Amino acid sequence: MTTVSSWHKTHSCGELSARNDGLNVVLNGWVHNWRNHGGIIFIDLRDRHGITQVVFNPVDEPETSAAAAELRHEFVVAVSGKVRLRPTNMANPRMATGEIEVIASGLTVLNDAATPPLHINDPDASESEELRYRYRYLDLRRPSLSKNITFRHLVTAEVRKYLWSREFIEIETPVLMRSTPEGARDFLVPSRINKGKFYALPQSPQTYKQILMVAGFERYFQIARCFRDEDLRADRQPEFTQIDVEMSFIDENDIYATFEGMMASIFKSCLNIEVTVPFQRMTYDEAFSTYGSDKPDLRFGVPICDVSSVLSTSTFNVFRSALENKDSIGALAAPQCADLTRKQIDTLTAHVAKFGAKGLVWLRHTENGLEGPSRKFISDDEEGKLLTVTSVKPGDMLFCIAAEERTCFTAMGQLRLEIGRIKNLIEADRFNFAWITEFPLFEFSKEENRYVSVHHPFTAPLAEDIQLLDTPEYFRARSRSYDLVLNGFEVGGGSIRIHYSGIQQKIFNLLGISKAEAERKFGFLLKALSFGAPPHGGIAFGLDRLVMLMLGLESIRDVIAFPKTTAGISLMDDAPDSVEESQLKELGIRLEGQQS
Ligand code: AMO
Repeated sequence: MTTVSSWHKTHSCGELSARNDGLNVVLNGWVHNWRNHGGIIFIDLRDRHGITQVVFNPVDEPETSAAAAELRHEFVVAVSGKVRLRPTNMANPRMATGEIEVIASGLTVLNDAATPPLHINDPDASESEELRYRYRYLDLRRPSLSKNITFRHLVTAEVRKYLWSREFIEIETPVLMRSTPEGARDFLVPSRINKGKFYALPQSPQTYKQILMVAGFERYFQIARCFRDEDLRADRQPEFTQIDVEMSFIDENDIYATFEGMMASIFKSCLNIEVTVPFQRMTYDEAFSTYGSDKPDLRFGVPICDVSSVLSTSTFNVFRSALENKDSIGALAAPQCADLTRKQIDTLTAHVAKFGAKGLVWLRHTENGLEGPSRKFISDDEEGKLLTVTSVKPGDMLFCIAAEERTCFTAMGQLRLEIGRIKNLIEADRFNFAWITEFPLFEFSKEENRYVSVHHPFTAPLAEDIQLLDTPEYFRARSRSYDLVLNGFEVGGGSIRIHYSGIQQKIFNLLGISKAEAERKFGFLLKALSFGAPPHGGIAFGLDRLVMLMLGLESIRDVIAFPKTTAGISLMDDAPDSVEESQLKELGIRLEGQQS
C-alpha cells in the first residue's frame, strides 16, 4: 500500500473544481460516507470546508484500495491522488465539488474512530437533543451546524471590522464583579480569600462601560459574555454574548446612525443582502397599541384597532361590562379569514386565553356585512363604524377582545401573530428592522410591590418628562431608551444615560432605593459620575439572537457551540455538578442538610 509520504494537505475538501482537472493533491479529513460499488471504493471526505468524493480503484491501486476497504465512518485520513472530471451524468450540481473526484493513489489512516452514536452524514437524522448535546463534538461535525458556527465567526469579524474603522476601542471588563442592576438573577461565585463574600458574574458590562466613558475612552466595544439566571426559552441562554457598546458626546441619532450602518454592513458582507436604512422608528406606545407588543413583527400588517369609543354605547354584555370596568376593546381585521372553521376559531380562542383573554368575539365579513352569533348584539350603526375603523373587507374575519388594557392588547398581538402564521402572511426571507423608542421609565412590579426600572436605573428620562418626576404621576415618565427589533425579536437594547447626579438621586428615590442602599450598591458608579462624566449612551445587541435570525433558525442553541439545555445543563461535561466537600470547606460553605 502507498502511504501518503507527506500527509499535509494541499487543498481543503471544499475547494476543488473543474479548474483543477489533472492536478495532484493531498486532502485531509473525516470519512463522511463510504460505499463499495463492485470492488471500487468511493468515500466522501469531509472537512469544515466541504466534501470531496475520492475513488479507490483496485485495478490501478490494489494495496491502497484494500486499505480503503477497511475504512469506516469518521476515520481520519490523508489521501493523495489526481483530480479528475466526473463523467457529465455523474456530476452532482448540489455539491460545490460535484464536478470532480479525486482518483486516490495513496492513503494514510491518521486515526480510526469508534462507531459514532450520531448519523453525522444524515441531514434528516432525528436523534434526540439529549444525544446531540452529549456528543456535541460529533453534532458540530455536521455540515449544517458547522456552517452556523462559521457564519457566527464571520458576523463577529465584520462587527469588529466595522467598529474598529469607526474608532471604537475593544476593552475587556471583569467577569468577576459585583452585581449589576439588569433585573435578572445573578450567578454568584464564592470568594475563597474573602470568605462569606461573593462575586457576581456580569449580567452585562453596564457599569464598567459607563465608567470607561468617565475614563475618557469615548467609544468602547466588547464582544462580551453575559450571565443571567433566568428561565430559558428558545431565544434565551443563561450565558450569552452581547455586542456591547458605549459612546460619549452623542445623542440617540448618533446611536441609530452608527448601528444602522453596522447592521447594513454585516448583512451585506455576510448575506449579501442590502437592508434599507434608516430603520423605521416607532414609540413604545404606538407599537403596543398597534401591534400589542414592544417587539412587533413588521413583516406583515394586520394592525390592532382600539374600538372602545366606537362601541361606547354598546348593549352587548361582553362589551358593556368591559366599558364599565374602564377596560379596552380591541379589534383586528384578519385578512381572508372568513372561511376559518369553528375548530380553528376555538383553537384561536384557546390561544388568546393563554394571554388572559376570557373570550374572542368573531364576525365574518360576507356580502351581507358582518355575520356570526354575536352579530345580533351589535347595532347597524355600530356595524358601520366597525367596518370603517377596522377597514375589514369582505372575506375577512373581524375579531374583538374586551379586557383590561394590557391584557387586551397583548392577547390581540398574539392573535395577530397566529393569524400571520396560519395565513402565511410572514415572508420568511425578509428582514424588517425597527427602533422602538420612548419606553416608560418605570413599571410596576407585583412581585416587589413597587415601581422598578424598565431598563436600568441609569437610563435618562425624556427631557419633556423630567418635570413629571416631581409629581404623583412620576410613573408616566418616558425614557431615552431604545430597542432594536428584527422580525419580532428584540436584538438590541440601550439608552442615553443619566450623567447628572441630581437626577440620578431623584430616580433612586422614586425607585425606593435609599441613599444608603444606592451608596452600597452603586456608590462606585455614582462617585465616578461625579468626576466630570461626559454625556453618554450605548446599546447592547444579542449576538446569538442576531445570528439565529440571519440564518432563519428558531433556536439560539443552533448558533452556540456548547449551549445549555432548557434545564440549564451542559450534557457533554455534566455541568453543573456537585463538588468535593473539601472545596466547599475552603470556601466556608455548608450545604443545607450537610453535617457540620
Ligand atoms: P438588555 O438586557 O436589553 O440590555 O440586553 C441586550 C440584548 O441582549 C440579548 N439578550 C439575550 N440573549 C440571549 N439570552 C439571554 N438570556 C438574553 N438576555 C438579553 C437581547 C437584548 O436585546 N446593559 C444593557 C444594554 C445597554 O443599556 O447598553 C443590556 O444588557 O438581544
